[in-house]
Amino acid sequence: MIGQSSRNFRIRELAPPDMPALRSLLEHVGIFEAAEIAVAEELLDAAVAGSRDYLVHVADTAPAGGAVGHVVGYVCHGHDPMTDALYDLYWIVVHPDARGRGIGRALLTHAEECVRLAHGRGIVIETSGLPRYEPARRLYETCGYSKAAEVADFYKPGDAKLIYRKTLVNTV
Ligand SMILES: CC(C)(COP(=O)(O)OP(=O)(O)OC[C@H]1O[C@@H](n2cnc3c(N)ncnc32)[C@H](O)[C@@H]1OP(=O)(O)O)[C@@H](O)C(=O)NCCC(=O)NCCS
Repeated sequence: MIGQSSRNFRIRELAPPDMPALRSLLEHVGIFEAAEIAVAEELLDAAVAGSRDYLVHVADTAPAGGAVGHVVGYVCHGHDPMTDALYDLYWIVVHPDARGRGIGRALLTHAEECVRLAHGRGIVIETSGLPRYEPARRLYETCGYSKAAEVADFYKPGDAKLIYRKTLVNTV
């Protein structure tokens, strides 16, 4: 695990007791459709079962002594098997009550550190062009991601797929 303690939250690897909180978080976000939640849960299930294809890190409010804290967000990334060393950012979520405190940025930065450690060349993120994904798009742009492509009417008519990319300079 890459240790990271920051402000009043920490980022750590997924643990089995996190699963109910993560399922609840996906419901509480309020912007995901049922099919999206089902996919997100599949990835979480694979990760907790030990798959190395989906790597999940959780942000929690850290209690003293290293016990499992209150989960406030997570990020899921993994190597894209069609590439030599590009990684997909599959999911990033912060609880609505915990937003605007740098947790999303810290989760994304943490995933980038993991990719660097794995000698990855960069990260690709697919997201929607709908207004409710504006905070996510701003997060990606703020963190140095550029829009590489846009596929109109992808998810449904009027709902484009936007593809963001960041090249990572390997320092490890
Ligand atoms: C996107 C998301 C993860 C951001 O989490 P967060 O913890 O609030 O983000 P941070 O506080 O780390 O913000 C980092 C940067 O992102 C941008 N940002 C985040 N929320 C924003 C908002 N509502 N409006 C504009 N910019 C925003 C800002 O540039 C911000 O930097 P700043 O605080 O220096 O201005 C959160 O809004 C979320 O969970 N959204 C719903 C889930 C989602 O859409 N996930 C992506 C698709 S899977």
